[in-house]
Amino acid sequence: MQKMLIRGLGFAAAAVVTVSGATLSYLYLRKPEMAPPLSIRVEMTPERIARGKYVYALADCDGCHSERDFSRLAGPVMESGRGKGVVFPPELGLPGRIVASNITTDRETGLGAWTDGEKIRAVREGISRDGRALFPLMPYENYRHMSDEDVFSLVAYLNTLPPIRHRLPKSEVKLPASLLMKDLPRPVRNVPQPDRSDPVRYGEYLATVGVCADCHTQRERGSPKPGMRFAGGERFHFGFATVVSSNITPDEKTGIGRWSERAFLARFYAYRDYAQKGSPQAGPQSFTLMPWLALSQLPPEDLRAIYAYLRAQPPVFNPVTTHPRPGAEPL
Ligand code: HEC
Ligand code: HEC
Repeated sequence: MQKMLIRGLGFAAAAVVTVSGATLSYLYLRKPEMAPPLSIRVEMTPERIARGKYVYALADCDGCHSERDFSRLAGPVMESGRGKGVVFPPELGLPGRIVASNITTDRETGLGAWTDGEKIRAVREGISRDGRALFPLMPYENYRHMSDEDVFSLVAYLNTLPPIRHRLPKSEVKLPASLLMKDLPRPVRNVPQPDRSDPVRYGEYLATVGVCADCHTQRERGSPKPGMRFAGGERFHFGFATVVSSNITPDEKTGIGRWSERAFLARFYAYRDYAQKGSPQAGPQSFTLMPWLALSQLPPEDLRAIYAYLRAQPPVFNPVTTHPRPGAEPL
């Protein structure tokens, strides 16, 4: 049984870069841009917690921070391992030992002793409690667009996760990624609620918080390939299986150009029963990192907005085989 999660391996980060010695020591001593955490306590109302559970699903926090059972269709989260943290396996080729933290309420090994402001800062600004920059596999560059209301709700929900005592090693990011990533954090204040009256703009908000482009855009040396946004083709390779992200541009032949809105919603809602009742056993040929179970929880108006946003993107011709036959393609 494969139990682990991964996603977003494409972030393999700024791989090959040459820097001079002087630049290197400057980069080494430099601190990331940061502001003190907000001094607030989020209200723990049922509405906030419910909204936070939704934001947690949309943003796929489980995707990296929870133990998952990939012997079942779409890799459901193991309830006993929700938020307990994951050490990413070396085969993913990340620059160093990258560890998705324990985000449960355990006081010693999780976020239990953090203030709400510190949690908000980590999620939106990429700064850990001790002031270090977080490795950007944690998608704070997307989450910085999360509205204040949504991040408060998210934190209210995080505060309800049952504590799991699970001590993990710290991430150790190799040079030069460890230096370059210090450029990424930045303070975030006053993000308004998204405008829901315009489906395309609302869809953009949801797709940003849902980090769709990161998985659905092919990378070359750690950077998204120009002109290929949403055109898929990014490979996620594990020892036991490989999956390639789909083309979700409106291209008629190779993307979702011929999909009706109804078909788009149906594709997600096909997983609703599995999300509720549990997924059947499935072999490596159906392995996927697409967060179907989490995204099947989105209300129809949100999926419609995402559809409207995707349809407004430029079509890109790019045929993709999402589940290549084992051995059919090189690594
Ligand atoms: C694509 C993978 C990925 C996703 C999705 C993700 N995280 Fe993370 N997260 C990480 C990694 C990896 C780290 C550790 C980075 C490091 O150590 O530099 C991290 C760090 C954190 C931290 C900081 C913990 C610490 O000890 O500094 C918090 C808090 C956190 N994540 C919460 C969340 C929440 C909440 C979500 C969903 C909104 C989320 N993460 C989604 C990968 C992810
Ligand atoms: C962690 C990576 C990841 C994230 C995040 C992700 N996807 Fe995917 N997605 C995939 C992969 C891999 C596939 C292909 C395998 C499959 O169909 O399960 C896929 C398939 C799809 C498909 C099916 C396309 C087809 O031709 O059958 C749609 C639609 C889709 N994704 C939309 C989205 C949207 C919208 C978002 C953001 C809300 C999103 N994805 C986020 C990895 C991801």
